Amino acid sequence: MVIAFSNFKGGVGKSTIASGLADCLAKKGKKMLMVDMDAQCNLSSFYIDVEENSKSVYEALVTKSELPIMSVRENIDLVPATLDLTEAERSMMGTMGREYKLMEKLDPIKKNYDYVFIDCSPYFGVATCNAFFASDAIVIPVTPSRLATNGMNKTIEAALEVESIRHRKFAFVKTVANFCKTGQNLTSDLLSHMQESMKKSDYYLSYIRESTSVQMASMDGRLPKRSNGEKDFLTLTEEFLLSAKFPKKGKR
Ligand SMILES: Nc1ncnc2c1ncn2[C@@H]1O[C@H](COP(=O)(O)OP(=O)(O)O)[C@@H](O)[C@H]1O
Ligand SMILES: [Mg+2]
Repeated sequence: MVIAFSNFKGGVGKSTIASGLADCLAKKGKKMLMVDMDAQCNLSSFYIDVEENSKSVYEALVTKSELPIMSVRENIDLVPATLDLTEAERSMMGTMGREYKLMEKLDPIKKNYDYVFIDCSPYFGVATCNAFFASDAIVIPVTPSRLATNGMNKTIEAALEVESIRHRKFAFVKTVANFCKTGQNLTSDLLSHMQESMKKSDYYLSYIRESTSVQMASMDGRLPKRSNGEKDFLTLTEEFLLSAKFPKKGKR
């Protein structure tokens, strides 16, 4: 199953949640392939030295070459990005069937994995479009802020559009409320209201609290043991596995 992590807003935790969830699934013995479709290479930087790396998903999108797969951890493989992914977007602009390039390259290899996670950039360019067309489901990390909820709504709209173009529904399109605050920490009524309404949405999957453990994990995708972050990610993992197994559970 191929899952895109997307929100048309940066800094909401797409890369952090994709890598944290992948880490939990890999520990459960699931075979993971991580595909970095963001020219900022954040996801790649969790696993490899991006300054030293020249292999890139870019090559595979614009030439006949296969996806460059690197084994980075037990049960985790990576298709890294490089900065020139932005060039790929530009050169693909005028080509036929440009939305399907990633899908074509993933199709023959995805059977080798339990889950393929695609980390997207914050805007709906050719790269994100490729990620959506290649995906069976979408996870939308969202923070309690107006910009992030707008980004979420736009992402959901784009997902519906992709469904109608390719005549195939996503197994699920679900949000993960990130940077959630607990107890008395809520800084405003608006924020508290947004947080609650996110959790009530039909699209809701799970939540991750704001914590230093999660922040630390975003350095290398590993969560400190017995931290709040680990606890939230374990719950997210269970919810994710349920959604992946029973896709129709969350009504839309
Ligand atoms: N739950 C959280 N608690 C604390 N820091 C977080 C949390 N989620 C993400 N972050 C931090 O927020 C920043 C943006 O996260 P990132 O995953 O890079 O967002 P995106 O991929 O959407 O741009 C990173 O520095 C990350 O460490
Ligand atoms: Mg990112």
